[in-house]
Amino acid sequence: ALAQTTVTVNANDPQPAYDKRIFGQFAEHLGTGIEDGIWVGRDSAIPNENGVRTDVLEALRAINVPVVRWPGGCFADEYHWREGIGEQEGRAVRINTHWGYVTEENRFGTHEFMDFAEALGAEPYVSGNIGSAPPFEMAEWVEYMTTPIGSSLARERAANGRDRPWNLTMFGLGNELWGCGGNMRPEYAADLTRRYSTFVKVPSGQSVMRIASGANDMDLNWTDVMMERAGNMFDGIGVHYYTIPYDWGHKGSAIGFDEDQWARTLVKTTHMDELITAHSEVMDRHDPNRRVALLIDEWGTWYDQDPDTHPGFLRQQNSLRDALVTSLNFDIFARHTERVRGANIAQMVNVLQAMMFTDGPDMVLTPTYHVFDLYQGYMDGTVYPVEVESPTYSVNEWSMDEVSASSVRGTDGVLRIGLTNVNPHDAEEVTIELDGATGSAVTGRMVTAAAMDAHNTFDQPNNVTVQTFTGARIDGDTIRLSLPAKSVVMLEVR
Ligand code: AHR
Repeated sequence: ALAQTTVTVNANDPQPAYDKRIFGQFAEHLGTGIEDGIWVGRDSAIPNENGVRTDVLEALRAINVPVVRWPGGCFADEYHWREGIGEQEGRAVRINTHWGYVTEENRFGTHEFMDFAEALGAEPYVSGNIGSAPPFEMAEWVEYMTTPIGSSLARERAANGRDRPWNLTMFGLGNELWGCGGNMRPEYAADLTRRYSTFVKVPSGQSVMRIASGANDMDLNWTDVMMERAGNMFDGIGVHYYTIPYDWGHKGSAIGFDEDQWARTLVKTTHMDELITAHSEVMDRHDPNRRVALLIDEWGTWYDQDPDTHPGFLRQQNSLRDALVTSLNFDIFARHTERVRGANIAQMVNVLQAMMFTDGPDMVLTPTYHVFDLYQGYMDGTVYPVEVESPTYSVNEWSMDEVSASSVRGTDGVLRIGLTNVNPHDAEEVTIELDGATGSAVTGRMVTAAAMDAHNTFDQPNNVTVQTFTGARIDGDTIRLSLPAKSVVMLEVR
């Protein structure tokens, strides 16, 4: 007999909104994440809008990307913004010391990024350089981006093609200051955060969210010290957590894995829940009114990079397993919207858990992209708590609930329920009880495939894509469905 799961949606107990910034992305100067992945230049034979590939831009628009974080990552703390403005030909050529020790030609600088974000309709989340640049450099950068015509910097910006200031809404105070951002102790990082934050100023009428560089994984002391010593100087603090099947030395392969690797990856990704709970508790001690947001400003899978790819470019295939990693994390974020008001998957194109891959003129969407598409109706909607009673799925020492769920009433009034079945073998009979809501019709969309590591290639771009799901029935406040093995389903109740 098929196993049984019960999901209860508590529509009488609305929670803080599912901030659309949770669907944020991250684009670093790393490998082909920007060069080739986003930027091809205005003279390229590849169709482009102002130098940005049209295929990528259109695909990103279709999932309504709300935020793009740039220029790093580790790259941020060695980036000097002045090297990326003015005529493209004359720009400084640097070495990207973190990522492959390749040349960085600075073709994609402030104008290219801010115009890209604007063309996308996304908020720019710019990360400043605390690790290797003085506060004056950061202050001038912010002024260059935000000041109306008047100052020398505003005139310089206008001469470089942009009269009006851009709308800079999110600004990062360095990145991973405990590591590549300067190997600082939290006490020192907190002092520098206070100092640099002082000089991040925007004109009246504009406001910018200042985001402190957050902890690595479960380093709660980092969050504690930053909140205690500098918490009044920022509006958000990050935390970075990557899902790695094994360990940093041997991470595991992106495809061609067995069921043990499937299970360990999915179990490890649910560590995000404990991580957020633990950092939130620390933050609650210092900030009981929850003024400061917790931003998961880097998350996603990190595997051994694909064979025969450039060292340091972090190119990894993206499979159905990544689709489930995505939905499991979206469910976790739904449980923490009182504190989590943003996230940035690493990364947007060609790097780590990417939305898409490019190769010359070709572009292909990943399973992860399709789950971002399935869940986009959650943006800014009202979260309803869910209770899930589900059998346990286990392989060796890896076990977790077979079914994960979340529910959000969208700003369009539609009640949405996201469901994931991690069992790669069996469908799951699911009964959903709507407590405080009813509906007369239910529709669904689904991402699934026959193999655990099913993935898309330039030759076979539709192995894993969004399918219509017609298997759900609604009767007033009860929905019944058979949730296919290894699937992500998004139901819409009207
Ligand atoms: O996303 C890749 C890298 O991971 C980022 O540059 C850094 O912040 C993190 O260590």
